[in-house]
Amino acid sequence: MAKTEFIDRYKDPFLVHLEKRSQVTEPKNLYEPIQYILGLGGKRLRPILTLMTTELFGGKVEEAMDAALAIEMFHNFSLVHDDIMDDAPLRRGKVTVHEKWDINTGILSGDAMLILSYQFFESYPPEIFKELTTLFSKTAIEVCEGQQYDVDFETRDDVTIPEYLKMIEYKTSVLVAAAMKMGAIIAKAPEKESSAIYEFGRNLGIAFQLKDDYLDAFGDPETFGKQVGGDIMENKKTFLYLRSLEKANQQNRESLLHLYSIKPEDSTIKVQAVKSIFMESGAVEDAKYEIESYTQKAYKTLDELNLPDSSKQLLRQFGESLMQRTV
Ligand code: IPE
Ligand code: IPE
Ligand code: MG
Ligand code: MG
Ligand code: MG
Repeated sequence: MAKTEFIDRYKDPFLVHLEKRSQVTEPKNLYEPIQYILGLGGKRLRPILTLMTTELFGGKVEEAMDAALAIEMFHNFSLVHDDIMDDAPLRRGKVTVHEKWDINTGILSGDAMLILSYQFFESYPPEIFKELTTLFSKTAIEVCEGQQYDVDFETRDDVTIPEYLKMIEYKTSVLVAAAMKMGAIIAKAPEKESSAIYEFGRNLGIAFQLKDDYLDAFGDPETFGKQVGGDIMENKKTFLYLRSLEKANQQNRESLLHLYSIKPEDSTIKVQAVKSIFMESGAVEDAKYEIESYTQKAYKTLDELNLPDSSKQLLRQFGESLMQRTV
C-alpha cells in the first residue's frame, strides 16, 4: 500500500468521521479553539494506526472510528497544553491556541478535549469499553508523567540518556503503542497479539520522538510547522544535547553547558551555536543511528505476530515513512 492508499483507506474516512462527531456550540470561546486545533490538520498518525491495526487483525475500520477519534482528540489536547508548557508560538504552521486566544482558554479547551476523548468510548459495548478505557487511563497518566519529566529536565544538568529515553517513552511512545493496541482490542485479537503490537508501537514511538527532536533543531522552517530551534531555546534535554555533552571536546562541552544555562531575548546566536555543536560532536549522526535502531527494534517484534507477511510489510512501510518524514 503506497502512501496515498493509506490516505484513501484510513485518513480520509477518519476526517469525515471527525467532522461528523464534532460540533461547535456555546460558549464559543470553549469550542472554537477545539475546532481550530483539530482543523489545523497534522499527520493523523495515531488514528490511522488504530484503524489500520483493527483491519490487520480482522476487524472493521468503522468499528474503530470512535477509538481513533478519542486518540486524536487526546493527542490534540496534549498539544494545546504542551504548547503552553513549551511557550511555543507555532503549531502546524499556524499560531498556537494560547497565543491566538490566551493561556486560560488553552487550559480549559484542553481540559474539555480530554473529557470529550473519554466520551468517544461510550459507543463501545461494556467489555470493550472497559478494556479501552483502562488502557487509555493508564496511557494518559503516563503521558502526564513524561511531560513532567520533560519539564523537570529543563532545569536539571545531570540528566542521563536512559532517563531521557524513559521520558520520551512516556510522553510520546505509549500513546502510539496504545493507539495500535486499541485496534487489536476492537478486533478482539488474542492478548499475545495485542501485546506484541503494543511493543511494535512503543519502539516506533521512541524512534518517532527521536526524529521529532532532530527535526526541532534541523527541520526546514518553511515546511516544519513548528518553531525550529524551540527545544534549544527552552533548554530541552534532548538526545542531541545529551549525546553532545558526552562526545564534544572540552571547549564545546563548556560552551554547551553555558548556552543551556541562559535564555537570551534574541535566541538566534544561541540556536546557531548549539546546532553547530550538535553537528560537530557527532550527536546528529548518533541520533540518526538511534532512530534507525529503534525502528528496527519495532520490526523485530513483528516476528512474534501471527499475521500474514503482507500485513507485516505494511507495518514496516509505515515505519519507513515515519523515518523519512520531514514534518
Ligand atoms: C507531535 O506529534 C507531538 C509529539 C509527540 C512529537 P505529531 O508529530 O504526530 O503531530 P501532528 O498531529 O502530526 O501535528
Ligand atoms: C510533546 O513533545 C509530547 C506531548 C505533546 C505529550 P514535544 O514538546 O517535543 O512535542 P512538539 O515538538 O511540541 O510537537
Ligand atoms: Mg512541545
Ligand atoms: Mg513538550
Ligand atoms: Mg518536539
